Amino acid sequence: MNPGMVAAAYIAASILFILSLGGLSHQETARRGNLYGIAGMAIAIVATVWSDRVNAYAALIALMAVGGAIGAVVAARVRMTAMPQLVAMLHSFVGLAATFVGFANYVDHSVSHQGTEKTVHDIEIYLGVLIGAVTFTGSVTAFGKLQGVIGSRPLMIPGRHAVNAVIGVACVWLCVKFVGAPDAAQGLIPLTVMTVLALLFGVHMVMAIGGADMPVVISMLNSYSGWAAAATGFMLANDLLIVTGALVGSSGAILSYIMCRAMNRRFLSVILGGFGTTGPSRGARGGQHTEVSIEESAELLRDASSVVIVPGYGMAVAHAQHPISELTRILRERGADVRFAIHPVAGRMPGHMNVLLAEAQVPYDIVLEMDEINEDFPDTDVVIVTGANDTVNPAALEDPESPIAGMPVLEVWKAGVVIVSKRSLAVGYAGIENPLFFRENTRMLFGDARHSTDGLVAALKG
Ligand code: TAP
Repeated sequence: MNPGMVAAAYIAASILFILSLGGLSHQETARRGNLYGIAGMAIAIVATVWSDRVNAYAALIALMAVGGAIGAVVAARVRMTAMPQLVAMLHSFVGLAATFVGFANYVDHSVSHQGTEKTVHDIEIYLGVLIGAVTFTGSVTAFGKLQGVIGSRPLMIPGRHAVNAVIGVACVWLCVKFVGAPDAAQGLIPLTVMTVLALLFGVHMVMAIGGADMPVVISMLNSYSGWAAAATGFMLANDLLIVTGALVGSSGAILSYIMCRAMNRRFLSVILGGFGTTGPSRGARGGQHTEVSIEESAELLRDASSVVIVPGYGMAVAHAQHPISELTRILRERGADVRFAIHPVAGRMPGHMNVLLAEAQVPYDIVLEMDEINEDFPDTDVVIVTGANDTVNPAALEDPESPIAGMPVLEVWKAGVVIVSKRSLAVGYAGIENPLFFRENTRMLFGDARHSTDGLVAALKG
């Protein structure tokens, strides 16, 4: 395929990627968005493989077959609850690839650059390797934390900000040395030293970030992996990689910003770390809780004309989305107004609840974001909180000492009755006691969310 056709294919792929991101921003169009993404990626791969620059077909096809097969098996097997770990792992591959490509590009003498062009090219390589190395170890560490291999408590080594500052200054100094190196052999020394520092920085940066901030870290690493890919695109003079990397980099940055806002955290304080430990649970126990049986809960639902369902991580663990969908159908058939309230960080990854509800065929138009529904709770008869905890914790608004103080939450306690379906009074991800469980209008429906919801469906049918 000649370079003109490759360029045309790359433009088509870029447009499809932009359409894909646009589609993914709404549930109704998400499926189409995915299809655009698949089509764009297929075009990009075919055009690259057929381009004049590629000739090692045997190795390429063998590696693509092995990598593709592993990817397909892993993606098919992964549980929805383990998706953030998978995403972290995939980001680490992008970082590692950018690092390898940077080194390979530097020692490749087939394309030579002179003067200013060489300086610019060296800076591209340096940045690509730097961002790639930080992304690689940062993502591997995030994987370890999410998988529970590493504790989620933030690591606070003494003088950690000073350590980071020294690494930052050293990287700038090494960049000057690298760009000014008389030959590739001497340039490799500062490049390698910087890579080691960047690898250590990636570990340190994510180790210092506590469990409660991990969602932001994942989207931040997503953004880094995009910038690493864009830097690689500059190195290889590959326009498609530049565009795709910039799309991933900027969308990851925007998502990080949105999540910080949803958790009432400043981006800088997330990066500086030290928030969200898994130490002993905090917050005072608010006295007596009131238990409710499945039959009593069904009775409350029979009388309700407006119901809001708040799903959380526990719904995903229990695979309760299908009975929840069935419950919704039954209540709507009985004439109740049923809607879902989705907190931006409910579950363990962005859009986690939306994906599960879509899979269970819950109509999109009754699934509302926090800002769209929060004012309606005072007019709601019954709220069912299914496996959610931190996202409905009133301490966020009422207790200035709470670690989640100021985080916007779903104000479910303003409804007539709140049925909380979970297995115990245990804390959620942030390790904080929830005073909602001890409110006068709260009824605790203890048990696995799937079992409880199946029971509600059976009781309402009966
Ligand atoms: P959480 O606060 O994590 O609470 C989940 C609750 O589900 C737990 O308290 C648990 O209580 C219950 N549960 C577990 N298994 C259950 C089962 N089989 N049946 C019924 N209940 C079950 O959930 P949330 O409200 O969705 O909040 C999400 C939290 O995760 C936030 O702190 C957020 O910052 C964090 N986070 C979010 C993300 C993203 S991007 N969404 C990523 C990482 C972390 P029992 O043990 O008593 O059942």
